[in-house]
Amino acid sequence: MLSAVIIFISCALAAANPGLNKRSWNYMPVSTKLTCRNESIANGEVRIGLLSRGNYAFSGFFDINIDVPKETETEVNIYRSTDGGTTYKIEPYSVPRQGFYEVMNSYYKDIIMSSAAKCSNFPQFNDTLEHLAAQKYHFEKCELTTDALPNYLPDSLYKINVQTFGLVELVLEVVVEITQKDLY
Ligand SMILES: *[C@@H]1O[C@H](CO)[C@@H](O)[C@H](O)[C@H]1NC(C)=O
Ligand SMILES: *[C@@H]1O[C@H](CO)[C@@H](O)[C@H](O)[C@H]1NC(C)=O
Repeated sequence: MLSAVIIFISCALAAANPGLNKRSWNYMPVSTKLTCRNESIANGEVRIGLLSRGNYAFSGFFDINIDVPKETETEVNIYRSTDGGTTYKIEPYSVPRQGFYEVMNSYYKDIIMSSAAKCSNFPQFNDTLEHLAAQKYHFEKCELTTDALPNYLPDSLYKINVQTFGLVELVLEVVVEITQKDLY
């Protein structure tokens, strides 16, 4: 669900900017914060580490102690700041609030599942995911892919907010800084 974050933006931006190849910017994670409403129901830890020069990866775990209820909902919002993080404005790229299982059967299955197989025990399924049992999920060095992002992004901070609603209530907030590459 983590790499979800960046990959979600990738897709949203790629849709708006087809035909890209070489990016002129670097990214650097600034902060990550995972908030758990009730730690006895769900808790976890998310870290972003350097993988290789200029490339970062997610590691950590999600400890989900109950079967994820059908009514659980999920939302992803992206905000951008051009004043160093003082003010953020919401970007049009988002995953509107909807059922958790709907998100798992669309965004997660289409975009994240295959790459998550290499670095995590996140669910793998062929048909439709209808039930996610209580489980400890761990992920180790899940790479952030920027392949689908546009060549050009202005200097800015992006804040990505992934939230679930219901008994399992987690909020993941990641701030990433975009800076231009030195071109010489
Ligand atoms: C957290 O969940 C447990 C198990 O359902 C419950 O007993 C406890 O009261 C909850 N704590 C809070 C602060 O809601
Ligand atoms: C999905 O189907 C393929 C091909 O039949 C199979 O090899 C694979 O193990 C299946 N994966 C899961 C998670 O069931």
